[in-house]
Amino acid sequence: MNFHNILINWYLQNERDLPWRKTTNPYLIWLSEIMLQQTRVAQGMPYFFSFTKEFPTVFDLANADEEQVLKLWQGLGYYSRARNLHKTAQYVANELNGVFPPSYKELLKLKGVGEYTAAAIASFSYNEAVPVVDGNVFRLLSRYFDIESDITSPAAKKEFTELARELMPKDNPAIFNQAIMEFGALQCVPKSPNCTICVFNDSCLALQKKKVDVLPVKSKKTKVTNRFFNYLILEDILGNTLIQKRTAKGIWHNLYEFPLLETQEIADFDFVSKAVQNEVFSAYTIIGIEECSHATIIHKLSHQHLHIQFWKIKIEEIIEKGVDANNLKTFPFPIVIYNFIEKQEINC
Ligand code: ADE
Repeated sequence: MNFHNILINWYLQNERDLPWRKTTNPYLIWLSEIMLQQTRVAQGMPYFFSFTKEFPTVFDLANADEEQVLKLWQGLGYYSRARNLHKTAQYVANELNGVFPPSYKELLKLKGVGEYTAAAIASFSYNEAVPVVDGNVFRLLSRYFDIESDITSPAAKKEFTELARELMPKDNPAIFNQAIMEFGALQCVPKSPNCTICVFNDSCLALQKKKVDVLPVKSKKTKVTNRFFNYLILEDILGNTLIQKRTAKGIWHNLYEFPLLETQEIADFDFVSKAVQNEVFSAYTIIGIEECSHATIIHKLSHQHLHIQFWKIKIEEIIEKGVDANNLKTFPFPIVIYNFIEKQEINC
């Protein structure tokens, strides 16, 4: 049997029952593929259900407020995906009468839709013969064919795309693409794959050469920066607090947070106390400062490790536009702040 027949046979016996595989509706496929970028199926699934319930069509998503979209996306991370999703829904609804572009080439023009996503939608929705190339595909093909090209390079992307295109049966691109991703997700996994039960174990070059654990080759290590965030939870005599929208470009754009004091290192009580009284909240009469969290929370993003402390600042005045505890949860927050609110740690 050739490569694609073995792969597809394996898939037919092992595929997971996933909701976006039961449809060819490009809106639903697009939604699922944006959600599944940098996200595991188990994590993305509840979001797929809540989005399709709240926004059954592209028009419903287009007509929502960005804040509602961000709130529903809360916890999934990489929030630019949600903002682009919303903008693209508006474009498709308003400029294209709700009809998704009909080909890979046209899909690529949508905001937030790159080569991988365009190939996924074009193959799953339109059966267009374009290969998907994601981390799963790099892994399987680099191992099976013993390819040492650095998968972070554009040249490798081209090489793997052409290889996948050659392997793909042109009469059934959709099932081949689903199968190759599923195989990477379930069988040819990054660490310690069980090659003894693998359907390719008599032909996989990496297995023969004992190179499974060194392939694929990925050179660039992402550089991680450490940042130190002190969230200042103002509390007035009504029990209200203050939140603000992060308007700056960068992480958590358009999400809400408490007033932030960013420092060069982990801050102690004296430092925060001085900064709050002399600078950040000098307009208020401060009657108490206390650290809420017992330990610094380390929140890991792809390129940044955030060291987060929460401080309660009690004041004598009434906060203009103060928010009460019940209202607080309706705003979209980064999940680390939402969890802090949800766990009532805010009442420290
Ligand atoms: N990850 C990305 N796209 C996927 C899909 N269609 N099925 C399963 N996992 C995926």
